[in-house]
Amino acid sequence: MLPKFLYILLLPLSVWANEHPHTFSQVDSVKMTHIHLDLKADFKTKTLSGIAQLTFKYIKPIESIILDTRALTINSVRADCKDKTPLSFKMGKEDKILGTPLIISNPNQCPQISINYKTSPQASGLQWLDKELTADKKYPFLFTQSEAIHGRSWIPMQDTPAIRVTYDATIYTPKALRAVMSAKNDPESPLSGVFHFNMPQAIPPYLIALAIGDLHYHSWVKRSGVYAEPALLEAAAKEFEDTPAMISATEKLYGPYPWQQYDLLILPPSFPFGGMENPRVSFITPTVIAGDKSLTSLISHELAHSWSGNLVTNGRWADIWLNEGITSYIENRIIESVYSRSLAKMEQVLSYQALQKDLAELDKKDQSLVLPLEGRDPDDAFTDVPYNKGALLMFYLEDKFGRQHLDNFLKGYFKQFSFKTITSPKFLNYLDEHLLKTYPKVGITSKNIRKWLYQPALPNDAVIPTSQRLQKVAEDIKKWNKTLSINSFSPKNWSYQEWVYFLNNIKQQLDVNSLAKLDKKYHLTQTGNAEIALAWFPIVIKNHYQAGYSAIEHHLISIGRRRLILPLYKLLAKDPILRDWGYQVFQKARPGYHPLAQGSVDKIFAKK
Ligand code: BES
Ligand code: ZN
Repeated sequence: MLPKFLYILLLPLSVWANEHPHTFSQVDSVKMTHIHLDLKADFKTKTLSGIAQLTFKYIKPIESIILDTRALTINSVRADCKDKTPLSFKMGKEDKILGTPLIISNPNQCPQISINYKTSPQASGLQWLDKELTADKKYPFLFTQSEAIHGRSWIPMQDTPAIRVTYDATIYTPKALRAVMSAKNDPESPLSGVFHFNMPQAIPPYLIALAIGDLHYHSWVKRSGVYAEPALLEAAAKEFEDTPAMISATEKLYGPYPWQQYDLLILPPSFPFGGMENPRVSFITPTVIAGDKSLTSLISHELAHSWSGNLVTNGRWADIWLNEGITSYIENRIIESVYSRSLAKMEQVLSYQALQKDLAELDKKDQSLVLPLEGRDPDDAFTDVPYNKGALLMFYLEDKFGRQHLDNFLKGYFKQFSFKTITSPKFLNYLDEHLLKTYPKVGITSKNIRKWLYQPALPNDAVIPTSQRLQKVAEDIKKWNKTLSINSFSPKNWSYQEWVYFLNNIKQQLDVNSLAKLDKKYHLTQTGNAEIALAWFPIVIKNHYQAGYSAIEHHLISIGRRRLILPLYKLLAKDPILRDWGYQVFQKARPGYHPLAQGSVDKIFAKK
């Protein structure tokens, strides 16, 4: 306990601390409530141009409105009140992380303002793909990725999860292409070069999303289907056919699916993420089409965000664990429900190991669930901590209070905070009132939970996951490590999880002969499973196993998903023998990467 006078001295600090460090906008005085977009997608100049009309609700009188922008060209601004008066505006000082504030003078507090603008071809939230980089190689492709603070690179707006908006949009496209947005979509609307969208449910602005391409639709059931390029449509429809079962399983746990439609949209392989939970249509990397449904936990993850993230949203990026941690927990519950407990358990153990690895490398300050993000790019601090430590907190509560009580709590939480934002202190209060204090005999108080939120590492009483199937693999690992004999273990019917566990936990320094034996028997270099590749290629690199190099090159050139490429580039950049080669591969791959992935790999090679 601090002495009382210190509290009095320190209290004002919390008032001064910036509650919204990732936006220039004055969300305490004025809030955007609706966005209307009228945008033309020009694939020749790689620009979106047109109008964003923003509707505001004023809370306090203000003379000027400040919006977030990044690399936008603003042509004109007008007030859409009586006589559409032009408004004067200026660009403020550019900040490397936040972009440039657009300051609009608006003395009459007009509730509707239109901005005529154009994006930059390098917009951080857009990727314009030439046709060669798509699955069919026939038409170009555009997609947006706005989380965390890239929405401002294609819409001038209050780019903060602290507010919610409805939106509608008119999008002009080349005639042959289809536009899809995180809104009501009609997969049968004709290809006329113009598409209309309406999103009547209020969402945080980072969930506004657009994709344009040669997109076709396969429907599983009325409320769920998949968009993909023709070359991938059939494979995607088969791979993800359990999606409707996943929706029903989640509804059973946490209440009705709130967004009417749940579709998937398969992006080209340069998509820098595994998935993005854009409402009504999750964006998905094609690297999870493994042919055997083994990587579909990604779908359960993005689907779970329909509750944790999209319905109940982190109010600040510092609280991203409320989106990602609770989602990772629900993801696992969906896997258990649709597939099996043993599969879910294996995934828990793999996540736990990944977390341990991250914690070993991370600064203490980045090990707490609530992240110190002020002055930092949120992208840089999103590690396995908000995901896997966040999920472990949920497993801890499950263990202590019992599954039924935690399920009831979460169901109530989603209802209570539907279409609202939440911060960690608010969450803790709610948890205290509706779970901790309801069952005082369990003996968990908010003090225990605060450790998870504000302290590094894992609390001592965290529940460490175990898996019988992986314990068996651990036996095999021992045998292999001891004898390096290919007959010392028998991976019969191993799932990808078992393979990944094996590869991650065997002795990493091996002679090339043993590697060759392993590879020859189990075709690891040629695996079609991106997760197995991600576990095998580090071994190839660490041991300079040359037979694996061309597969690594192919992997790095054909995939832009950051989680699948950054660990490999990190190893290559550190390796005196392979660094130059790695850099050459990057130079070949770079034009096909998303701006975010380009930036991340640039950083890796900038370090000596
Ligand atoms: N919302 C995230 C992606 C994201 C997070 C984008 C932070 C920008 C900033 C998405 O739901 C996600 O977590 N994707 C993971 C999936 C995985 C954990 C199953 C990914 O892309 O790897
Ligand atoms: Zn997520």
